[in-house]
Amino acid sequence: MINTDKKINEKKIGLFDSGIGGYSVLAELFKTLPSAHYFYVSDDAFAPYGPKSDDFITERSFIIAQALKEQNVELIVVACNTATAASIDRLRVKFPDMTFVGVEPYLNAYYKIPVGLTPAQKKMMVLTTESTGKSERFKRLKERLDPDSQIDHYGLVNLAKLIEDFYYSPNDREQFYKSLEEELAFLKPHRYSFAILGCTHYPLIRKKIEKILNLKTISPDAHIAQRVLALSGGDEAINQNLIPDFYNFFSTKNNIWIKKYRASLLGPFKEIKL
Ligand code: DGL
Repeated sequence: MINTDKKINEKKIGLFDSGIGGYSVLAELFKTLPSAHYFYVSDDAFAPYGPKSDDFITERSFIIAQALKEQNVELIVVACNTATAASIDRLRVKFPDMTFVGVEPYLNAYYKIPVGLTPAQKKMMVLTTESTGKSERFKRLKERLDPDSQIDHYGLVNLAKLIEDFYYSPNDREQFYKSLEEELAFLKPHRYSFAILGCTHYPLIRKKIEKILNLKTISPDAHIAQRVLALSGGDEAINQNLIPDFYNFFSTKNNIWIKKYRASLLGPFKEIKL
């Protein structure tokens, strides 16, 4: 029987990130739950989170969750690996009536690569921000899902900021490509076959990363969208024609909610292919 429940249409979903990284998750959510109402907070006044302490990031997460609660959002996607690592446990305690979905490096991927590949063909790394890499939560995740240390880890100091800056200064494309090459150069000699993208900014330029390092990238965006769909209790297929054209966007730099068109997600990444 067709589910005519309106629950999903009325669903208000919040997301936040230090900046535009959560767009990689939002893009998937638009495909999976197109008829929900999205409230996206970009904490760009305090980006990047990568070099910040857990306590600072948790303080920011509390302020943002409160702002989303005031928009009557019931489910928040912490669309940032760094904020998930630093604060999701404390968010759940502080806001017991809200549902939180976190984003974590998709280390399970190692066990999903096809059998029969040689060790060189299976060579995998995970890329995160500095803060995620140092976090207890990431260390626990790595010990649990990669007990034999098959996946090498690198914390990248500048990559999220480079991507964020490029979004707002798209004319500096040549400079962006040059900086990107420089940032990733040290990884080339290792000849990895796979890179798990452990920061939501990275999938925004996944094609470019794949080209520079000659590998395949992996990120959990589609799984997160499925998790949100499951928590929203529904089958979205019937609502495909109700897709809203906009999402509600809040930048902490500008301190105001505005409506933004979905097309603006692509920004300068259009040519790179989001
Ligand atoms: N996009 C974020 C993440 O997934 C944060 C990047 C940053 O602000 O350093 O980790």
